[in-house]
Amino acid sequence: MDYKKLVQQLIFLLERETNQVAILANTAALLMMQLEDVSWAGFYLEKERELILGPFQGKPASIHIPVGKGVCGTAFVTRKTVRVPDVHAFPGHIACDSESASEIVIPLSNRSGKLIGVMDLDSKKPDRFSEDDQAGLEMIAAALREFL
Ligand code: SME
Repeated sequence: MDYKKLVQQLIFLLERETNQVAILANTAALLMMQLEDVSWAGFYLEKERELILGPFQGKPASIHIPVGKGVCGTAFVTRKTVRVPDVHAFPGHIACDSESASEIVIPLSNRSGKLIGVMDLDSKKPDRFSEDDQAGLEMIAAALREFL
């Protein structure tokens, strides 16, 4: 995947938009459309020490994730991307879709630098997300923060 191109597409798509729901909804749609073997792409946003389901594409998912729990809650508290090649081997993984095999979660900040939530991508393919995907998706999150 050419993530530089994907970042350009994202910036083009979001140009001058300020509505958070619209921004995150279109980002989830773009990720689902352009990335192969992704079964779920979306956002969880922090509210009162919980991550609450935000705009996404894919099957219905858990709505409340306590900060610190699951892959999403872990990425949020550590402020670091969590790449999980095998979800069954991750202690505390929250299964939304029993067919999900691998996952990557990237912390999401707004333009003031405040951590606001996470971006989550799932795949039915084991070890779907490489180091290159991680770097590319971190570039996407960095581009996105300028709109948030
Ligand atoms: N697996 C995640 C929960 C969210 S779903 O994958 C959409 C987790 O363990 O945090």
